[in-house]
Amino acid sequence: MHTETPVEEKTKKQVKTKRKKTGFFGSLNTDLAIDLGTTNTLIYALGQGVVLNEPTIVALDSKGNTIAFGHEAQLMHEKTHKKIRTVRPLKGGVIADFEIAEKMMREMIRKVMDRKWFSSIKRLFITVPNGITAVERMAVRDSAENAGAKEVFLVEETVAAAVGLGLDVKEPVGNMVVDIGGGTTEIAIISLSGIVYSQSIRIGGEQMNEEIVSYVRRKYNLLISERAAEKIKHEIGSAVPAENEKETLTKGRNLVSGVPKTLTITPRDVREAISETVNACLDAVTKSLENTPPELGADILDRGIMLTGGGALLKGIDRLISEAIDLPVHIADNPLTTVVEGAGEILDKHEEYQSVLI
Ligand SMILES: Nc1ncnc2c1ncn2[C@@H]1O[C@H](COP(=O)(O)OP(=O)(O)OP(=O)(O)O)[C@@H](O)[C@H]1O
Ligand SMILES: [Mg+2]
Repeated sequence: MHTETPVEEKTKKQVKTKRKKTGFFGSLNTDLAIDLGTTNTLIYALGQGVVLNEPTIVALDSKGNTIAFGHEAQLMHEKTHKKIRTVRPLKGGVIADFEIAEKMMREMIRKVMDRKWFSSIKRLFITVPNGITAVERMAVRDSAENAGAKEVFLVEETVAAAVGLGLDVKEPVGNMVVDIGGGTTEIAIISLSGIVYSQSIRIGGEQMNEEIVSYVRRKYNLLISERAAEKIKHEIGSAVPAENEKETLTKGRNLVSGVPKTLTITPRDVREAISETVNACLDAVTKSLENTPPELGADILDRGIMLTGGGALLKGIDRLISEAIDLPVHIADNPLTTVVEGAGEILDKHEEYQSVLI
């Protein structure tokens, strides 16, 4: 474990994200920023802050009509009958089902806008992963336009994250941002408003859930749901062992007897289950550092690595990375909202941030 130097302490202060007031929609605003994530979608409205934070999921009836989205659809997930299906339109950080992604965005935008003004969104800033292809980028743009936006601007997620973390991306100083999301892990070294080096691997928290499901099936012959795996990860998930660890109970279907059963899961089980994904994230960080020009590497040594995204909430992930590479690692104050807050700041000051737009 490293002890903190004054420089690190200072950097930690810089990490504090600027909280904006998330008031009721008293005044109409037509400029929005969206973080369309694999697991969660967030919307920031100019002058209002974060006005929507919901799971990226839609529930459809047998005719394909949207019957619910976000939290409401998430409650239906894995509990539907044949006339209702739930769809998660993003995979690995990119749109996998255009039509449904568009429907979902439309509903979400409609929710945050006064319905009668719905068609009047002027600018829409939308974040995209670094590793996105030109075709995928076009799909995001089209979906946003079809969802009602007149002008669409794309911003790289890691750049938005860096701004959301309070880092001055315009300075000639190296900043390293690691965003572990639900479907992607994005790493970028940023200096002078640009990405010097970036890496994007299409794995994240959702892969960890899948690994927990298959581990429990393999080791205990118990079939658990995605939701149960997520709950286990939240309750006892960790990247490194800690003192006084607690076990948890989970329920599933015994694959031998076929009946429901309760099982005790240990933190060690979870660490073993998710080790492949956690190690892949660590390897990506190491590889990025190997590809960093020495001058910027020296800045990162002083400032440390900034960790964000929901995966940053996995207990001990900062310690694991920090001990493996012998560099300070700081976790964002609000890892789940950093990207949209940064995108919102870029939207607020878009003249100033022209150079970071794609
Ligand atoms: N306390 C926690 N411990 C471990 N993982 C967590 C915790 N809280 C959230 N997560 C995980 O974070 C992930 C969601 O993070 P986030 O909202 O940043 O992803 P996203 O932006 O939707 O995805 P992406 O950026 O990859 O497209 C989920 O997989 C969730 O399980
Ligand atoms: Mg994300």
